[in-house]
Amino acid sequence: MQIPYAKPSITQLEIDYVNDATSNGWGDQRNSYLDRFESEFSKHLGVGFAIATSSCTGALHMGLSALGVGVDDEVILADSNWVATVAPIVHLGATPVFVDVLRDTWCIDPRLVKDVITPKTKAIIATHLYGNLADMNELLKIGKQYGIPVIEDAAEAIGSKYLGQRAGSIGLFGVFSFHGSKTITTGEGGMFVTSDANLFERVLTLSNHGRDKNEKRMFWPSVVGFKYKMSNIQAALGCAQLSRFDSLVAKRQRVLASYKRAILPLGGISMNPEQVGSENGAWMPTVIFEEKSNSSLLIQSEMRQSGIDVRPFFVPLSKTGLFLSQKSSSVSKNLYDCGINLPSFFDLNEDEQKKVIEVLSLSVRERGKK
Ligand SMILES: Cc1ncc(COP(=O)(O)O)c(C=O)c1O
Repeated sequence: MQIPYAKPSITQLEIDYVNDATSNGWGDQRNSYLDRFESEFSKHLGVGFAIATSSCTGALHMGLSALGVGVDDEVILADSNWVATVAPIVHLGATPVFVDVLRDTWCIDPRLVKDVITPKTKAIIATHLYGNLADMNELLKIGKQYGIPVIEDAAEAIGSKYLGQRAGSIGLFGVFSFHGSKTITTGEGGMFVTSDANLFERVLTLSNHGRDKNEKRMFWPSVVGFKYKMSNIQAALGCAQLSRFDSLVAKRQRVLASYKRAILPLGGISMNPEQVGSENGAWMPTVIFEEKSNSSLLIQSEMRQSGIDVRPFFVPLSKTGLFLSQKSSSVSKNLYDCGINLPSFFDLNEDEQKKVIEVLSLSVRERGKK
């Protein structure tokens, strides 16, 4: 593809940090970048604790495990989601319960959450899809009413703010992804964050193959844990990226704003919503066609033929064939049928973005004629 849908921004700073970790980050220095990345990330987010992991999926797996989620428990999440959000629930033997998303956030609908709460409900996961923000106040209210923790899957929401608070810092815990497509990357990687000291201690033990940090005996686990550690070399990349946070996020936001300026006037299209008082980190610019004639599949294929790597909106988990007992969700299904992710990355230049806009506009007008 001439224009990929995502790619990281790697400068000399990232290369220098990684070279330093590779050359010197061993022995006494084996955790130097890891400690720094965790400390700077927790400060950046305004939370008490952060644990760097090999993936966001691993961070979520450990967080749910630390909450005691297991067989006979239910966890509520949005039907519009990447499969990574549901996989840890299944691995723990619990039952995922899908609910539809709101049309104006593309995130979990709090009203529907209330309808599916049972005595077995152990957690509610709010995924901030494509950097859009779930209605956290409403979800926290419901969580409080029923005594159920609300968790944030902020894999896609670095840079997003909900009423002044950074996404991922609002629920009982939050998880982030640093996959290569993300605004801040460590190649693969993730982060678990919380301000709950007890939960942090439990996840820390789980993250260290079940070894309590106060255990004096060598190789002595107290529980069966996990191995989802980030490497010091990856953390070096993360430290460099985090120091460039403002410019990395600002560029994504500029890209989204330019797309909106050019594409929304075509009519019959909506793009990533932003609620009053909230800020979208703009990870993934996404268009939703309101007209049925604007077949998303055809537009995707025409854009790919022009060398532009676009992606479909996440398929609802209930439609994947993996969760046959789940009800289907009409808003999630409609977003999948009508949604396309557009390329966005730090080095996307004006000409490239112009090309994306031109090809998309032409394709939309062609569809409109038929
Ligand atoms: C919403 C959501 N949750 C979880 C993940 C999992 O992240 P990772 O690939 O780092 O495990 C992703 C990945 O992109 C995601 O989009």
